[in-house]
Amino acid sequence: MNLTTTTSRSTWRSIIDTPLVNALAAPHGIGRYLEVINPMWSLDKNRIPARVSAITSETDEAVSIELSPNGEWTHFQPGQFIQVFIEIDGRLQSRSYSISNSAFSKKPRITVKAHDDGFVSKYINTQLKVGDRISISPALGEFVLPAQIPSALLFIAAGSGITPMIAMLETLLEGKHSHPVTLLYYSRDTSTCIFRRRLEDLAKKHDNFSLILVFSSPSSTQELTGRFNQHHLLTALSSKNALSRETAAITLPLTYVCGPEVLIDTVTAEFKLLGHSDKLLSERFKAPSVTQNLGDASGNIAFSTSKQATSNDGRNLLDLAEDAGLNPQSGCRMGICHTCSCLKTSGSVRNMNTGEISHGEEHIRLCVSQALGDVTLSL
Ligand code: FES
Repeated sequence: MNLTTTTSRSTWRSIIDTPLVNALAAPHGIGRYLEVINPMWSLDKNRIPARVSAITSETDEAVSIELSPNGEWTHFQPGQFIQVFIEIDGRLQSRSYSISNSAFSKKPRITVKAHDDGFVSKYINTQLKVGDRISISPALGEFVLPAQIPSALLFIAAGSGITPMIAMLETLLEGKHSHPVTLLYYSRDTSTCIFRRRLEDLAKKHDNFSLILVFSSPSSTQELTGRFNQHHLLTALSSKNALSRETAAITLPLTYVCGPEVLIDTVTAEFKLLGHSDKLLSERFKAPSVTQNLGDASGNIAFSTSKQATSNDGRNLLDLAEDAGLNPQSGCRMGICHTCSCLKTSGSVRNMNTGEISHGEEHIRLCVSQALGDVTLSL
C-alpha cells in the first residue's frame, strides 16, 4: 500500500476515512491505527509527517532542510511559512520557519539559522539527520506576492529574514518575470550571508534583478556598509533603475521587509517619512515586545483546567504556562499562527505586538499576551 502520492491518498482516504470506518475504529479513529502501522500514513492534515530528505549547509550557522512530506501536503505560496513539530528529549517542540525555495520546487525546504538562545534551531543545525521524521503544518501566512505582480519590486532583508525573500525572488525570476526587482540584503560579512552564491547566480542570469549585499563588517569593501538608512534605500533604487534620487524617493515600489525588529522598525519609519507606508509589507521573525518593567509585574495566573497557578513576572503567558509545567500548543511564538489561542475567562492582558489592553472573557494568543494583574486561563 503506497500512501505517498496524491492520487493514491485521495483514493485510500475515500475508502478508509469515512464516518463508518472511523466509528468502527473508535475511540481513536482510523488515522491513529494507520500511524501505528506506518507514521508516514497519518491522515492528519495539520501535522503532516515529513522525512528529512536532504540537508545543506548554507553558512557556519545556517542549514537548509529539504522535506519529503506525505501526500497530505498540498503546496505553498512563496513567502509563506510552516510550523515544524520535532520531538526533542521526549518533548514535542514547535517552531515556524519560512519556506526557502521557489514555488516550482517539488519539495518544501526550510532554512534555519542557529540562534544563541534557540533550542530548536540549534538542534536542527547540529542533530537533525537525513531520514529523520518530523511533522509540518500546511503552509501559512500572508506575506506573499500579490496576484497582480507590480512593475517594480523591492525586497529588504537582514540575516535569516532572507528566507521568505529567496522563495519569492526565485519564483519570480524562474517564472520569467521581466520587471525590475531589487534586493537589499544585510549581513555581518560574506561568511554569514545566507544564499550568497544563489543570489549572485540569479543576478548574473537575470538583468532585471539588482542585488545589493550590505555588510556591517568594517573590513568590507562594499559600496554600502552599516545598517539600513535612507541613503541605502535611494541608492538601491536609483542605481540600477537609472532614476534620480528624488524620483526614487517619490516612486518607491511595493516593498517587502523581513528581519530583526530593528530593521523593520527603521524601514517602517523611513517609509512613513517618505509618505509611502502603504507600499510596505513586513514580516517579523521575532515578536516585538511591549516592554514592561518586570519589577512592576503583579498578580497571579490561574490555569483553571489543570488547577495550576503561577505568579506573573511580566513575561508572555505562553512562557509562564510552560514554566508552570503545562504544555500548551504553540507554533510561531510571535502572534502569527494562532496555535496558542486560549480562552481567558477573567483578567486583563496587554497585546505585546500592539500595546492594546483588553479585559474579561476572550480568546487570546498566549505568546503575545502579557498579564496585567490576576488572570485566569482555561488551560
Ligand atoms: S504560537 Fe503562533 S500565535 Fe502564538
